[in-house]
Amino acid sequence: MRIFSGIQPTGSKHLGNYIGAIMQYVSGQERGQALYCIVDLHAITVAYDPAQLRSSLYDLTALLLAAGLDPRRCILFRQSDVVEHTELTWLLCSVTELGRLQRMHQFRDKSTAQRELVSAGLLVYPVLQAADVLAYRAHEVPVGEDQREHLELMRDVARRFNQRFGGGSDVLVVPEHRIPEVGARIMDLQDPTRKMSTTGSSQEGTVYVLDEPKQIEKKIRRAVTDSGTEIARSPEKPGVSNLIEILAVARGASPEQVEREMAGARGYGDLKAATAEAVVELLAPVREGYLERRADEAALEAILCEGAQRAREIAAATLADVRERMGVGAPRRDRSLP
Ligand code: AMP
Ligand code: TRP
Repeated sequence: MRIFSGIQPTGSKHLGNYIGAIMQYVSGQERGQALYCIVDLHAITVAYDPAQLRSSLYDLTALLLAAGLDPRRCILFRQSDVVEHTELTWLLCSVTELGRLQRMHQFRDKSTAQRELVSAGLLVYPVLQAADVLAYRAHEVPVGEDQREHLELMRDVARRFNQRFGGGSDVLVVPEHRIPEVGARIMDLQDPTRKMSTTGSSQEGTVYVLDEPKQIEKKIRRAVTDSGTEIARSPEKPGVSNLIEILAVARGASPEQVEREMAGARGYGDLKAATAEAVVELLAPVREGYLERRADEAALEAILCEGAQRAREIAAATLADVRERMGVGAPRRDRSLP
């Protein structure tokens, strides 16, 4: 089984990214051949600073290694190092419906928020994301809840490609979405009706993976909760439900176990204290590992280069098949297809 996911090198990663995505990346290394891609080409679809992009890319590489990605057990690489992603994006554009791209939530939200230029890249963003995954014929894509629409699109693109060009065989694999059962949507601690996010949520309501333990404690202790005292999940109690989920994931327990354990608590104060402690325990080693690795950019670069070489071997084989099927480029002498 092959697992693929991509992650943006922008901004600092928060607890939502960590629980919704990064923890799944780490466990994915045990379940199959895992590829993780830092998507710098997606990051250039909105206004950005080139020097900052390079530095954020190393930040994220160091963070992912500190979180437990092991280059001996997964392929960790930078998207722009594997040119097959961009070539496949263009080829897949021919089986992607324009109207569908225009209706994507992310495109609508980001194009309204963009004050200067709404780039064509922003519109084509989901096709690049489809190419990322389809180039590796990956079976499974671990991501948070917010990526559902992008996953549906890439599945449709793969199906349409196979119908149009597959000649009866499946040249591309239609990937499955893997969303964590608990923690697929971590909410802002100050406004638990909104998801925790890099843009648009409050600083006080966002726990960053690299926050110092003291900051983490402060943010969790000040989390907005609801009226009442009962520690149980319910739609009327988004704040408490969010803390229960966070605590459960941080401890490796189920939300039901947490609710049972907290039944005798004196109120939300106990829930917050337990959550703060568990999150500090979860993130403190990541921060330390990050600080140890971040300064050695040459070492980070070496890991990314090696990852790209390995990724490229897989992607190049898919591209050869795709080109052949689409009648693009010189015909292949060896016409055997999967
Ligand atoms: P990004 O930083 O936008 O590349 O997102 C990285 C991953 O984190 C994606 O798989 C998202 O689905 C996931 N993610 C982002 N925000 C949250 C959140 N609040 N809760 C759970 N997962 C999230
Ligand atoms: N769009 C994704 C996000 O914002 C990142 C991403 C790019 C991705 N390519 C991918 C996720 C391929 C999964 C698979 O989080």
